[in-house]
Amino acid sequence: MTSTLKWTEHVPGIWKTTIGNPSELSPLNFIGSEPKREALKQMGEIGFPFGSDDFTLEQKNHGTLFSTPLTTDEKLYGLGLQFMKMNQRGRTRYLRVNSDPKQDTGESHAPIPFVVSDQGYGILIDTSRIVTVHLGSTVRLAETRKEQIFDRNNQKGLWKATPTSERMEFLLPSEGADVYVIAGNNLLDVVRRYNLLCGGGTLPPRWGLGFWHRVPTLFTDKEVMEEALEYRKREFPCDVIGLEPGWHSKSYPVTYEWCESRYPDPEHFVAKMDQEGFRINLWENPYVSPESGLYEKLGKLSGSYSVWGGLVPDYSLEEARDAYKEQHRREHLSIGVSGYKLDECDGSELTGNSWMFPAHAEFPSGHDGEQMRQMYGLMFQKMTTELYREENKRTYGLLRASGAGASSMPYVLYSDLYDHRQFIRALCNGSFSGLLWTPEVRKSASVEDWVRRLQSVCFSPLAMLDAWADGTKPWSFPEVEHIVRHYIQLRMRLLPYLYTAFAKYHQDGTPPFRAMPLVTGSVQFDGGKATAMKVDSVDFAYGGNKKKEWDDQFMVGDSLLVAPLFAGEQARDVYLPQGRWYGLENGEAYEGGSVVRVAPGIEQIPVFVREGAVIPMMPWRAYAPRQGEQVPLILGHFGEVEGSCSLYDDDGESFAFERGESVWRKAEVRRSADGSWTGTLTGHEASFPSTFSEVQWHFGLKKLP
Ligand code: GAL
Repeated sequence: MTSTLKWTEHVPGIWKTTIGNPSELSPLNFIGSEPKREALKQMGEIGFPFGSDDFTLEQKNHGTLFSTPLTTDEKLYGLGLQFMKMNQRGRTRYLRVNSDPKQDTGESHAPIPFVVSDQGYGILIDTSRIVTVHLGSTVRLAETRKEQIFDRNNQKGLWKATPTSERMEFLLPSEGADVYVIAGNNLLDVVRRYNLLCGGGTLPPRWGLGFWHRVPTLFTDKEVMEEALEYRKREFPCDVIGLEPGWHSKSYPVTYEWCESRYPDPEHFVAKMDQEGFRINLWENPYVSPESGLYEKLGKLSGSYSVWGGLVPDYSLEEARDAYKEQHRREHLSIGVSGYKLDECDGSELTGNSWMFPAHAEFPSGHDGEQMRQMYGLMFQKMTTELYREENKRTYGLLRASGAGASSMPYVLYSDLYDHRQFIRALCNGSFSGLLWTPEVRKSASVEDWVRRLQSVCFSPLAMLDAWADGTKPWSFPEVEHIVRHYIQLRMRLLPYLYTAFAKYHQDGTPPFRAMPLVTGSVQFDGGKATAMKVDSVDFAYGGNKKKEWDDQFMVGDSLLVAPLFAGEQARDVYLPQGRWYGLENGEAYEGGSVVRVAPGIEQIPVFVREGAVIPMMPWRAYAPRQGEQVPLILGHFGEVEGSCSLYDDDGESFAFERGESVWRKAEVRRSADGSWTGTLTGHEASFPSTFSEVQWHFGLKKLP
């Protein structure tokens, strides 16, 4: 049944329709970010990417089926934090929040019903319920083509039984949902519009981009201080120390109150850590202990099932949010705690270790367990982000569940259930749906794996060693301590570059870390409606090797490409987009638009820098510059052609940047007739002190100075 849906242009380049009568509790409504209309407008005009009768809508017994056509070679990305594959074409995704997705079903810590097509569109379903998406994995009988039935008796070798499906089907909840269509001239444009719809990407405080260390459970204030000072002594930069279970009086379920024996004077402890340049981040879970001062107040505002014996508060209610916020403000923020690790808001059904409220749990707001589970991560992000905003302080933290609309939330997803490759693939996949992910390091079976993981995490949205269970330290493997130190210091040296990449995310929606399909656009259009894709064979992210997804490498900002090596590998292939590239640390030149093979030893992770790039850097230091502090700026120009870069600056900690207290500078490198280089740094005078005291230029670099 064809349905003529009424699409209205919601913001430039994004159309919306309402199917059925959806619940008011949805990710976009709840997060409530203002779309960045001006930035969307600046992206230029673009037409609705579908024909008027492209959609069908059918009422089924268990939901509404919304379907759209697919072209034969169309590739489909996104669906939130996915670990097993990048191109989701041909798959069925069951988008339920779940902490232990062992199978490739679509379940994840952060599943998002947002599909991005290389044909230049995205479809987002805004609902608090589970959606199933068939991405070309179903064939209706009436659409089955005889010539595509592959009889196995007559086939040798690989047997392909499933005919190609040219239809994408979304099973929406029976009540319906808001549906958005997002247009774009290429994949990156679609993703940028999505992020701008969600308020633009997050801009973390500068310290959030430094190195993080989480101490073992049950550590005391004294042990934490000793461990932190060891970082200073050994010259490993560190900005954030995370406390794990044990800082609370009770942790499963949780009280949110300090343990008096381990932390007799939390205020003094946080202040002393601050003097040494460390921020404190607190682990917590959502389930409230009967021994918490919050228990009574939240009792009447909680669901009908408990988790670990604790309350499951209904944070769709303002009263519950206010109670949580008031307690956190009083006990944590007022003494200088910088943020949270919001654990276990995803739920698990692992045999023998199930913990979560069921979908049929009832909540005082009238919402049910399915909705609450799908939304819990978003609720915590929103509450805590507001808390810090009310104090005019930016936060940056960790969490275990997320959903649609979270681009502007200052949180990074994590979990340890995956191997190094899956960690990197999740980092890539997250970039299609406004999600940040850390391939955190915990422990490792071998020195090689340890180094390879640490190298990767230093080029990720949050560089962290999570030693909660085993007490690993960056110097735990003495034979490679120098390599680990080098990369943690390099992370700090690249801070101005990373901070600028995030500022761009905030301003125009460009993800700071991006999967390769977002790097070069290869989609061609015909009057706004997608036609079969024309592949630019050289510049296409799949160049050279059709089978490989290149989901094991990614861009950081506009100029650096990171291609991690995994334990056991001596060499790897890297797809380099067009242009000339240099090995950031080996100085070798590579011609892009091709696949190159590299074989660095354990001392190096393959990182490539574009010819003509100007990389803003600073000398390494123990922790990120604080508000008002100044550091030298190092502008490293690479290669033999002229180039330029933007450089973002603000106070690094407050929300003053939203009121105009920020500055974009431009660094330009020119070559004179006699072959000599000159560099200029321009930008208007800002009303706040610059983070940079002096400028040092390096021209024509082949590798890092
Ligand atoms: C896990 C989490 C770990 C650690 C631990 C503490 O759920 O993934 O990072 O925080 O809880 O019990």
